[in-house]
Amino acid sequence: MVKNTSTLLLTLATAALCGCGNNSMKSDPYEILTATFGHLEDGREALIYTLSNANGVTAKITNYGATLVSLKAPDRDGTIEDLLHGYDSVDGYAGSKNPYFGASVGRFGNRIKDGKFTLDCKDYILATNNDPGGIPCHLHGGVDGFNRRIWTATLRPESNAITFTYVSVDGEEGYPGTLSAEITYQLNDNNELTWTAVATTDAPTVLNMVHHPYWNLSGDHSTSINDHILMLPCDRYLPTNVGLIPTGELASVTGTPMDFTQPTQIGLRVNDQFEALEFAGGYDHCWVLEQPNVNGLALAARVKDPKSGRTMEVHTNQVGVQFYGGNFLSPEDFQGEFASGKGGLAYEFRTALCLETEGFPDAPNQANFPSTVLRPGETYEHRMLYHFSAE
Ligand code: BGC
Repeated sequence: MVKNTSTLLLTLATAALCGCGNNSMKSDPYEILTATFGHLEDGREALIYTLSNANGVTAKITNYGATLVSLKAPDRDGTIEDLLHGYDSVDGYAGSKNPYFGASVGRFGNRIKDGKFTLDCKDYILATNNDPGGIPCHLHGGVDGFNRRIWTATLRPESNAITFTYVSVDGEEGYPGTLSAEITYQLNDNNELTWTAVATTDAPTVLNMVHHPYWNLSGDHSTSINDHILMLPCDRYLPTNVGLIPTGELASVTGTPMDFTQPTQIGLRVNDQFEALEFAGGYDHCWVLEQPNVNGLALAARVKDPKSGRTMEVHTNQVGVQFYGGNFLSPEDFQGEFASGKGGLAYEFRTALCLETEGFPDAPNQANFPSTVLRPGETYEHRMLYHFSAE
């Protein structure tokens, strides 16, 4: 039987609402909305793009820093809320107080000891833009890292994706080699958002691109994430010194507050007297993903907000996951020009968490860590998949 047009449209719409649609079933491309996100001080305009799916999930991304600005997803009653800390316009993201909300971090996410490394017998000096415990180190790519660059966007409505490109010139922020980087965000009808970073270089360099959203799955950004339930499939973590630089040891989590192999409330042990927690002021460590799938995806973390039922799984091809419990968030950081968060909210201590898949911190200085060196002819690829559901 040949269906008339209206029946056919109804069938397609029903399939989409049931969440049983997939990309190949779509007769029309997805619509990606574009809007202004304000102007930088030098006059350049930032744009914000909206990806949406058949279940009402939306992801807003700006070309400033290839930054994920908002991710809205339903709770167990179907109430859709924004799960990300952030700002209402590009001003906040460009402001000096922005703690990398939603950013695509590069070239090297996490810390490098003393802002120095040696590669092929050559010494490199990077900015020391962070000093936990009073010890200066390099953090998240330096003063003007990838999160502070305007990326070139290519919209791909046929696959509900946006690809951002950026060329980081030789010597930028002290790193060697001209690096061509590409980041793709894609949203599908299974409520999965992927973030994929790909890069090549014309000279040996080090690279650890990291995605840095701050999540509060309750959607209420004034509440603590200490009641979220976290599972990390990790038997070991990387202890650090007081400057949050890994000591080089891969320590067992067994019998410690670092053990999240079973789903555990984050706040249950966060104030325990345990050296790693004392040095970092809470959770801010890299856990070892014991069975990385370098050519695919493996589960890196599962986190649930018991009140709303919202659950997020993070999958990756990387060797580590940094779980950061928002210990450095403080309302003082949100005072002053351009500094208030979305809706004028001043985000409090531990009201968001980050789950950053990555190569190990300080790997350029630690011979026993998996290499983060990228050489000409090789292609770097970091895959992440966030899956949202409600229980
Ligand atoms: C780090 C924290 C740091 C934060 C900066 C996280 O990736 O683990 O130590 O304060 O980024 O926003």
